[in-house]
Amino acid sequence: MPERRRLLNLLTPAPIHGNRSSLTCRFKCGDACFHAVPNTSDNAYFGDIAEAALSRRGVMKAGLVAAGGAAFAGSSLASFVTAPEAAALTTRGRLRGLGWTPIAPATTDAVETPDGFDQDIVIRWGDPLFAGAPAFDPHAQTGPKQETQFGYNNDYLGFLPLSKNVELMCVNHEYTDEVLMFAGYDAANPTREQVEVAWAAHGLSVVAVKGNQGNGKLKPIVGHGHNRRFTATSEFAVSGPARGSQLLQTSADPSGSVVRGTLNNCSGGLTPWGTWLTAEENFNQYFANGAAVTDPLGSRAIRRYGIPTGETERKWERFDDRFDLAEEPNEVNRFGWIVEIDPYDPTSTPVKRTLLGRFKHEAGTAVIDRRGRAVVYSGDDERFDYLYKFVSRKKVNRSGGFRGNADLLDSGTLYVARFTGDSPAAEIDGTGSLPSDRQFDGVGQWIPLCTESESFVPGMSVEEVLVYTRLAADTVGPTKMDRPEDVETNPVNHKIYMALTNNTQRGTAGKAGVDEANPRNANKHGHVIEMTETGNDPAATTFAWNILLVCGDPADPATYFGGFDKAQVSPISCPDNVTFDEHGNLWISTDGNQLGAHDGLYAVPLTGRYRGQVRQFCSVPTGAETCGPWVTERRVNICVQHPGETNDSTFENPASHWPDGGGSLPRPAVVTMWQNGRSGAPKHRGE
Ligand code: FEO
Ligand code: CA
Ligand code: CA
Repeated sequence: MPERRRLLNLLTPAPIHGNRSSLTCRFKCGDACFHAVPNTSDNAYFGDIAEAALSRRGVMKAGLVAAGGAAFAGSSLASFVTAPEAAALTTRGRLRGLGWTPIAPATTDAVETPDGFDQDIVIRWGDPLFAGAPAFDPHAQTGPKQETQFGYNNDYLGFLPLSKNVELMCVNHEYTDEVLMFAGYDAANPTREQVEVAWAAHGLSVVAVKGNQGNGKLKPIVGHGHNRRFTATSEFAVSGPARGSQLLQTSADPSGSVVRGTLNNCSGGLTPWGTWLTAEENFNQYFANGAAVTDPLGSRAIRRYGIPTGETERKWERFDDRFDLAEEPNEVNRFGWIVEIDPYDPTSTPVKRTLLGRFKHEAGTAVIDRRGRAVVYSGDDERFDYLYKFVSRKKVNRSGGFRGNADLLDSGTLYVARFTGDSPAAEIDGTGSLPSDRQFDGVGQWIPLCTESESFVPGMSVEEVLVYTRLAADTVGPTKMDRPEDVETNPVNHKIYMALTNNTQRGTAGKAGVDEANPRNANKHGHVIEMTETGNDPAATTFAWNILLVCGDPADPATYFGGFDKAQVSPISCPDNVTFDEHGNLWISTDGNQLGAHDGLYAVPLTGRYRGQVRQFCSVPTGAETCGPWVTERRVNICVQHPGETNDSTFENPASHWPDGGGSLPRPAVVTMWQNGRSGAPKHRGE
């Protein structure tokens, strides 16, 4: 196998924002990592003085260990199973679904796949969706044109079956990279036209796609009656207990029940009843002048959600008062929700579901419990923030679709998670070294916050718990996690897998120290937790958990790959989205690889002798992040988000020319990959 990996950088102090480019930090999450950690609550897991001292020793020890790791890293690179061996393993049924040879980490401006796979672009930023939509011209883009075209920075990706060989592809457009979208972009003076393009490039797309039985390609059907765009100005309804609340009322909407737009939609999920949940994540960055909010609870919330006190990066507040809290103090409260969409009804209005709480939702993934109720998991993606779940009161109407479950998510209970380790605290030393029982593991509790009619948080009403969910959760002692990203249930083993992407401030001065669920100080590479609800019932109020992966270079002793031989795994860093193939293998996409190579997609067997063997399937172009993995027996689909988003990359001089090559502008796109000789056509529901 060719060696293309760069040297490790373990001795370099962890940068505040990891390996992300300054553009990613600026546009994706509003420079969140450069601002103070919003969670300053002193809940049960905030380290005391003794633990903080231990954590500092841990940091020093980690540095020494890392020095050793760096010294032998060059000679102890992971070697992968060879092609014949992989085939043999597949034949023995031990690696079902993974009969390919892992790729080496790559730094090419391309999507790299294992030998034997073909790939194609399904759709890219600016491609037309509707009859009569104009062809993409980045030099003549307008808001109205963008509203008829595929949006920017595709993140979540899911497919719903529509008819024979036609599916509805559901895609989030998380945010815009203005310096890569507009010629001569002046960040201090954006124009109205540029801002209107950005509004229209945010949001969501529903696109009917058709597979080609002959060559595996998957193509959009331009003008299909189910194609839709939702943007930062589309109409959304509000449901649940906070609908109509004074906290959601604005001068344009005194009813507090109709919102224009959805923002920063990150990941999401398709529900068992046939709808799409999309998650509003870093909504805070779009709202200016938080300092104008002076009421006690509101101003605490401004700080807790990290809302800018002055002007915003994109300066939308200059073009619409609703982005200015000095003018419209409640508009920001109308973002940060889980939104439910009916892709099957092209006339439907999506609904913001307030009973699922308001925070930086990474995703929303739904399953059905033993009594037939809906359970939705969602992480709050911020350093030291929490994992949540919602359990409905009513039963799911499995064949009812959106209309048959119109108020399913509007009654039930919202919980937040507390993780308790089973090893002595002194054995969790912050280096990533396993405790004496050889597992980072323990039990946990789901702590109720409210139902549709009852608050369990003293001093806060139901609507306050829902609008200011972070403040409510701070009071009940949940565990401060290392940036909870995707959380999803494995349909084969029914365990839940949560990606914790990183937290370089863990254990630093004044911040929470390690605990068994977040066991590494200055956690640069992240980890993956495997959870089992008690009785395998998603509605249970207790659970067991263990860490499946402590990510990083396998040559680094501060890593763990489910106990698998670390000489036989792919390096992995900053896990973000998770999904599963039909054999129950876990697939993980990464965001911000700290090991010198590009981000990628990785598969991990969860059972048998190969449990924990991380195997890299693909690598994405320069500056890009891998998002939205969707894996079937015949296809692997991904979203390539923010290609070319590196420091100093611009429209005039972009760091990437993917996917069109030559001197072209980089364009976020959906990619499909399939094995040579196999058409990639869906052979079952849910392709
Ligand atoms: Fe948009 Fe948490 O990633
Ligand atoms: Ca343990
Ligand atoms: Ca993400």
